[in-house]
Amino acid sequence: MPDLSLNKTHDESRQGEAFAPSATDSSNHRRRFYIESYGCQMNFSDSEIVASILNKEGFGATGNYEEADLVLLNTCSIREKAEQTIRKRLTEFKKIKEKKPGMLVGVLGCMAERLKSKFLEEEQLVDIVVGPDAYRSLPALVEEAGTGQKAVNVLLSRDETYADISPIRLDSNGVTAFVSIMRGCNNMCSFCVVPFTRGRERSRDASSIVKECYELFNNGFREVTLLGQNVDSYYFIDEANDDIVTFAKLLERVALISPLLRVRFSTSHPKDITDEVLHTMAKHENICRYIHLPVQSGSTRILQLMNRTYTREWYKAKVDRIREIIPGCGISSDVIAGFCTETEDDHRDTLNIMQYSRYDMSYMFVYSERPGTLAQRRYIDDVPAETKKSRLTEIVKLQNRLSLESNRTDVGKIFKVLIEGDSKRSSQDWMGRTSQNKVVVFPKKNLNHKKGDYVMVEVNDCTQATSLGELEE
Ligand code: SAH
Ligand code: SF4
Ligand code: F3S
Repeated sequence: MPDLSLNKTHDESRQGEAFAPSATDSSNHRRRFYIESYGCQMNFSDSEIVASILNKEGFGATGNYEEADLVLLNTCSIREKAEQTIRKRLTEFKKIKEKKPGMLVGVLGCMAERLKSKFLEEEQLVDIVVGPDAYRSLPALVEEAGTGQKAVNVLLSRDETYADISPIRLDSNGVTAFVSIMRGCNNMCSFCVVPFTRGRERSRDASSIVKECYELFNNGFREVTLLGQNVDSYYFIDEANDDIVTFAKLLERVALISPLLRVRFSTSHPKDITDEVLHTMAKHENICRYIHLPVQSGSTRILQLMNRTYTREWYKAKVDRIREIIPGCGISSDVIAGFCTETEDDHRDTLNIMQYSRYDMSYMFVYSERPGTLAQRRYIDDVPAETKKSRLTEIVKLQNRLSLESNRTDVGKIFKVLIEGDSKRSSQDWMGRTSQNKVVVFPKKNLNHKKGDYVMVEVNDCTQATSLGELEE
């Protein structure tokens, strides 16, 4: 397994992050590929599948796109800004291609799926366009493009889960890893492009998931995050064991691999997270006390227009239930400001539900109309850009306060922390996370701890983003 460490640049959020390999795989490959990923964690995980598929065809990874034979961008369509970022990046590749005409440029992921062959007309330098369900055909498409033809495969599938492919871990700290458990989405949130770019929801074979997690644990990893757009609707008929595997059962199977393996998951849709899941979390200490529960809006009227299928009261009851079954559970959210017809009162409802839920953290966005979505077809994007922006500013300000308040309540308490590596600021300090997903930084003190160790840390100070502590001896 090639060891690749990667750079990260940060934009507004997890959805705006990009990564590219910074190290070159030292093995002796005939050809080299360079891959950059944008968008959500699922796209990042897909790049690890793509790396594995290309590796088998004799392609080695490189961190320097100037020496690549194949440059790939794994793209995101979630907001307009995400697509603009990709277009800008493509213009930068133009210059290199002029110098090196044999280099192939491929666009993968959600934007490839949304624009299909239109991409080839709009962006002349693109040679290959591949949608999220067609990565197995990438080697054939590369060959086709090598003969000077443009190559496209954007077919969506009802059953592709890449279950049998062992991802090549990119950007790995050797401690935490992401494992895809399902693909696609059957919800039709009216603002969202994902059901169109990722297709129908399907769950991956449960035993292949457990096997991948088991192998990660054996390779020294100590935390897995199970990934899906809507993990609570995971459903797999396990014929070999004559069992129906729900998400709660899957969580339990993964948790039973070892008490030393932490289990996280993302994302939960508030309509689907069940008591069974909450009780399973409470039962296993190694299932992290943290739930990402995107609210989107606090107004029942707006939630209805968004087609989220829950009300404000229903969401609040869910938060109560989480706090009742899992005391001390961390909760985070996604919030959209300025959806179609949103009034000042609706906006107040959003601020109010954030306060009620006491989120530890949120990803916050202004509404961006996406072509083809229900909202684009049915409603008018009528909230002025200035209003959207000022509402977002208020939302961010409130979240900053809530995050600080949440961190302050941790001061004086002792937490079990999984060490992920050196702190960003100093190699004298460790950085790790609590079960609640809070980042804790603390001095190493010349004790012989290493990445992947669990340690007890007393939190003695904090900022809005980080807790500071001391090792318990
Ligand atoms: N499946 C996840 C979210 C996936 S997209 C869920 O249902 O929660 C991640 C986040 O991007 C969404 O939760 C939403 O807050 C935001 N988002 C999606 N479409 C958007 C749009 N058109 N404009 C602004 N934000 C959007
Ligand atoms: Fe988009 Fe809704 Fe599916 Fe999340 S649940 S991916 S927001 S359609
Ligand atoms: Fe973006 Fe596709 Fe993920 S649109 S957020 S990369 S599923």
